[in-house]
Amino acid sequence: MNKLIYDKIIELRLKLRYHNYMYYTLDSPIISDSIYDQLRMQLIQLEKEYRQTNSLDISDHILNQIGGKKLYVFSEYIHKTPMLSLNSTNNISDIIYFDKKIKKYIKNTDNIKYYCDLKFDGLAVSLFYENGLLISASTRGDGRIGEDITKNIFTISSIPKKIKGNDIPKKIEIRGEVFMKKSDFFVLNQSRISNNKKIFSNPRNAAAGSLRQLDHTVTKQRKLMFFVYGYGLFNYNKTINSHYERLIKIKEWGFPLNKNFLLSDCISNIIKFYNSVNIYRPKLNFEIDGIVIKVDSIILQKKLGYVEKYPRWSIALKFPSFDVETRIIDISFQIGRTGVITPVAHFIPVNICGVIVSKASVYNIGMIKALDLHINDYIIVYRAGEVIPKIRKVLVNKRDKSIKKIIFPLNCLSCGTKLLYSTNLVSYYCPHDFLCPDQNLKRLIYFSSKHGLKIKGLGQKNIIKLISYGYLNTPVDFFNLNTHHLLKIPGVGKKLSNKIIQNIHFSKNVSLDKFISALGILYVGSSSAKRLSNYYMSITKFLYTDYLTLLKIKGIGLNIANSIIKFIQKKNNKIIILKLIKILNIFFISK
Ligand code: IVH
Repeated sequence: MNKLIYDKIIELRLKLRYHNYMYYTLDSPIISDSIYDQLRMQLIQLEKEYRQTNSLDISDHILNQIGGKKLYVFSEYIHKTPMLSLNSTNNISDIIYFDKKIKKYIKNTDNIKYYCDLKFDGLAVSLFYENGLLISASTRGDGRIGEDITKNIFTISSIPKKIKGNDIPKKIEIRGEVFMKKSDFFVLNQSRISNNKKIFSNPRNAAAGSLRQLDHTVTKQRKLMFFVYGYGLFNYNKTINSHYERLIKIKEWGFPLNKNFLLSDCISNIIKFYNSVNIYRPKLNFEIDGIVIKVDSIILQKKLGYVEKYPRWSIALKFPSFDVETRIIDISFQIGRTGVITPVAHFIPVNICGVIVSKASVYNIGMIKALDLHINDYIIVYRAGEVIPKIRKVLVNKRDKSIKKIIFPLNCLSCGTKLLYSTNLVSYYCPHDFLCPDQNLKRLIYFSSKHGLKIKGLGQKNIIKLISYGYLNTPVDFFNLNTHHLLKIPGVGKKLSNKIIQNIHFSKNVSLDKFISALGILYVGSSSAKRLSNYYMSITKFLYTDYLTLLKIKGIGLNIANSIIKFIQKKNNKIIILKLIKILNIFFISK
């Protein structure tokens, strides 16, 4: 009986996944909404029945999925220059700090000229032109590799297929945002309602759904627009050293440049610009979520460079997002891949701009203290950057007697080890590394993710299954997996299991920085891993380093050095690393 229910659950999940894909990605549902709802209800009922008679956790997120899931249906496109992301803030005073930091970095206190424009809320695209002709177009992806959407981009009339004029660049990557006008979004949703189709929740989703269509004739029917805001490769025979002047040139070449921008060296003018944009924002026929401030001088931009994927020379100043009141129900404690314990606030679910939100990470003890947070407190929540749920403040005046102090666990909830305190992180952490089950799970997920060895096809759910079957305990075990192990996972067939084994094999070639990052050493993210790799150039040199040598490396301070030494000197960690060194081909590449 149980086996029958289980099999039916798996079958229904697969069906729902398939229909989600048809609906959200291909925009071509093949069943009516009511049939879809029936399948969903059936699955909810069966999962309930199964849970009543089994202690086994068979949770899956398909029931919570509402589309927009990244599906690699297009071929990959490697950007000629990386598509960077932006640091952002909601706080006006951060702009003064941003300006100060730049002056400090370049060791010059002279006023800096900034180019400010609107932060369009759409999809970043990169357009590559050679000898004036549009050759290819891609999405941002992870900044290095995006998806090839050339055919779809060709259907957007405001994107030139040929650069205007005689004086054109040999090669250029134009960067900008594809979006849908509010009025077109409204018309599109009206027609979807009349055709009994699900509506898009906002213009950004509509633009994303319209652009990532396998059938580009669908993209053509949707009225998509484009604004340029930057460039990647800029292979032009004349030197232009101002971002503003480059954009004006790009405009002359026929690209749409939005007219709302400011060129100024005065921070108070920039703040005035931000406030005025926020006032006329509702009148614009497209969505924006802030302004972007960029150093105008290209020479300075180059000098400033970037940290991880964020340029030091630019910041987004976002508009405040919508605030909603709710009440804290409980606090749970989550363990991360480096052992750090993060409090998570669970509150009465609320709807923020169409999305149901019920929990928010509180980051650390400092934040709990700063917010003066208690269980049963009334709070204001919002979605930072319109995505991540955050607590803005506690409504102290509404408090009643039911409030309870938040008690931090003294021991790890997963392995029972006594938690240690990091003053730097203002957090407790579990020092048990790979030996703590929950931490180990996160470590294994991270190790195989794109931040580590990038083993494609092995997602979080499969890793959980492999651990529960006893096939996966440490990162070394990835390389002992075979197809028999993988075939035990419900939903993984012969073809996929072969593919995963092949991907595991490919992942054995790994650069030193990626390998160091994959180890999940406290405080060592991809940026520090690159510094370490560039310095040691070999894994054995890194493994047998000492504290004083570490401190010689630029950007490696006391805390990082301490954490590295602690990690590599732990017997269990060393055994794992040495085994991995034997299996992998760890090569050095300067980054
Ligand atoms: S500049 C190196 N300017 O914001 C800086 N980005 O959060 C590159 N965006 O993926 C970006 N409007 O899609 C820049 N005026 C603007 C923008 C803008 C929207 C998007 C862009 C990027 C995201 C980063």
